[in-house]
Amino acid sequence: MLADELQQLGIEQQSEAPAGGGWVDLHDHDSERLSRSRIARRALRHVASGNAQELSSMRAAIAQLEIPELYQAASFRVSATVRRSELDRNEAAGTAGGALQERHRCAVDLTGFEVELCLMIDGSSWMLGLPTDRVDRTKRVLRPLALRTALRPTVAAALIQLAGANQGAGRLVDPLCGAATIPIEARRWNPLLTVDAFDWDEATLNVARKTLEANKVDSVELQLLDARELGRRFPQRYDYIITDPPYGVRQARRGGVAKLYRGLLDSFAVALKPTGRVALIVVKRETLQQAAEASGWQLVREVEVELGAMQATLILLQREHESVANSELAASVSKV
Ligand SMILES: C[S@@+](CC[C@H](N)C(=O)[O-])C[C@H]1O[C@@H](n2cnc3c(N)ncnc32)[C@H](O)[C@@H]1O
Repeated sequence: MLADELQQLGIEQQSEAPAGGGWVDLHDHDSERLSRSRIARRALRHVASGNAQELSSMRAAIAQLEIPELYQAASFRVSATVRRSELDRNEAAGTAGGALQERHRCAVDLTGFEVELCLMIDGSSWMLGLPTDRVDRTKRVLRPLALRTALRPTVAAALIQLAGANQGAGRLVDPLCGAATIPIEARRWNPLLTVDAFDWDEATLNVARKTLEANKVDSVELQLLDARELGRRFPQRYDYIITDPPYGVRQARRGGVAKLYRGLLDSFAVALKPTGRVALIVVKRETLQQAAEASGWQLVREVEVELGAMQATLILLQREHESVANSELAASVSKV
């Protein structure tokens, strides 16, 4: 029993857990003592809690959560424990998982999950927590050659998820692909996708080719291309354009990053199917927003992430007429 074990370890259960749950929100010193115990594997970071009399109210509360770990994962599952309640464990896990899947567009995978969330129901309280012993997934892409600007695979996965490209068939391109982190993650997440990868630098494309080979990812179309030519070369071809453009003036070469963004977004507008989506990561968020507005794009959603010491923003764009139709998504612009 969790409470008994905590007591044996000399840790007192809080009478009031955050937001009314009946569970312990572990502090560092508690975790240290718990690390020697059997329940260490269940040591959790509190995510949310509430009243569990009805699954529908729990679902509504969970559907509002923003969990950054789920934006960066290819898959997740919710495992549930139920005590002193008539609620069904599987139904509870399914309800929480369904709400999280809808919100974060992360695939549920009961066996090969990357992130696990633990739902605990005790009497009339529920608590959702993240195990503190999560696996480090940041080294998932194996690179035969180092590319200084390569994106972390977890961030690439977050972009794919933000665009909704993790499910169903469709055609995706990363037109500034670097070492091909995004195309690799896209194929891993969703084998139904047709994936193209372009870069304007021959040496970089070579790195991409070797990285794809080393990661045993085939059937990605690699080509030398200036991304600003994408629309002219491939009009209305793509469902998803997901990319990681240069962050600063030095990388953007001629004219600086504002001019680069404008050139890219004008071209993407032609290359994308009318219902398509663009997801990209930028450090200069305002510059991107100005370029997007000037090119007739609507910023539909944004998520803040840390890139080492830098703060970056993942941005989801849609053509203005499409995003007006999708007002539900437009209303959920959020920062995490
Ligand atoms: C930040 S890096 C992308 C890193 C990549 N996501 C990875 O994980 O390795 C930006 C890339 O954009 C490419 N690039 C810059 N301007 C370009 C353009 N106009 N057309 C195509 N590629 C371009 C650069 O060669 C570089 O590889």
